[in-house]
Amino acid sequence: MDLTILVGTQTGVAQLVAQEIELRLDGEDMRIRTLLMDDIDSSVFGNGGLFLICTSTYGQGDVPDGAKPFYEELGQKRPDLSAVRYGLIGLGDKGTHGKTFCFGAKKFDSILSELGATRIGEPLFNDSGTNLPEDEAAGWIEGWIELCRKELGVEAST
Ligand SMILES: Cc1cc2nc3c(=O)[nH]c(=O)nc-3n(C[C@H](O)[C@H](O)[C@H](O)COP(=O)(O)O)c2cc1C
Repeated sequence: MDLTILVGTQTGVAQLVAQEIELRLDGEDMRIRTLLMDDIDSSVFGNGGLFLICTSTYGQGDVPDGAKPFYEELGQKRPDLSAVRYGLIGLGDKGTHGKTFCFGAKKFDSILSELGATRIGEPLFNDSGTNLPEDEAAGWIEGWIELCRKELGVEAST
């Protein structure tokens, strides 16, 4: 199974989360690549496939600065993403930003589904005041991968 992790980050925490996920999935029969949203455009979705969006929130409910051009291009170009399956990890802080908790990730969830992509499973919304994001993501990822295997009809190798 191929997985592309798309990271939106301001200070690097979401990138740590992606690294932890790569470590956790090491040994699974998977090919994983991690890309910073700063470096990509909508062509990353190509002919579809499996993606994991992992992004924090900045400003007042915004996507991180480096992820803005990618996010805005999706809204402008509106590519057909009906062959895209994705999971969602949002990083945020409920105590300080309760009203816009994880809005960056929620914005990606909205635009991807508007463009025809299908989310697999429930998102993980991490509250950094409660749980370490990399620990919570490490616990979440195995269940999500199992769900992906079921939905995509891919057997786990033994
Ligand atoms: C200036 C600033 C604004 C923030 N705004 C929000 C917000 O609106 N909603 C939210 O849930 N978290 C918000 N956060 C919390 C970050 O998303 C959180 O700390 C996250 O773990 C940072 O991850 P990163 O290093 O990958 O960017 C904000 C943090 C800062 C410093």
